[in-house]
Amino acid sequence: TALGAALVLLGYLSGSVPYGVVLGKLFLGVDVRTVGSGNIGATNVARAGGKGMGVAVVILDAAKAMLPIVLAQRLLAGAPHAELWVMAVAIAAFAGHLFPVWLGFKGGKGVATGLGIFAVLAPWAALAGLVAYLVAYLATRISSVGSLLGTTACVVGGFFVNGAASPISWAGVAIGALIFLRHRENIRRLVRGEEKKMKV
Ligand code: G3P
Repeated sequence: TALGAALVLLGYLSGSVPYGVVLGKLFLGVDVRTVGSGNIGATNVARAGGKGMGVAVVILDAAKAMLPIVLAQRLLAGAPHAELWVMAVAIAAFAGHLFPVWLGFKGGKGVATGLGIFAVLAPWAALAGLVAYLVAYLATRISSVGSLLGTTACVVGGFFVNGAASPISWAGVAIGALIFLRHRENIRRLVRGEEKKMKV
């Protein structure tokens, strides 16, 4: 439907807003792509500007997926294939964060945006992922360890809650796989023992 397609486009556009870059420029006066890991995500914003700024980016990068998904759920309720359209909106928002047109399609790693998607479609899995992140982060002070374990907990949790027959479970697998792919460099550093601990 035209409405479904419009919502998918809206999902992409919302997901493509790089809040890490925006907040970095507005409040820190830096382009976060030029500091730390060079990533546009909350972790690197926290490196540049402290924990509060990082938390703000997590919330905004999660909300930018949650809002179009909830809007699609409302507007498409009862429409044919509504569940699949909602999923398409979620994937579009995620793709927007990873491949934002505004940054030459060079986006982020998808952890906070993925968390926002899980928060709407599989909230218990999202909670499991958030707890796993926090426990792993507090134990290691390495954000990527938290992200990778949290992502795993989200995907596995999604399977437990929704079952292998649900398209939500498989969308979760796709999101998790992309997050892992985006952490290639982090994983390489972790294996070599070179991934740095956070100071904030
Ligand atoms: O979510 C990104 C985080 O897992 C790693 O970020 O900046 O340390 O590569 P960064």
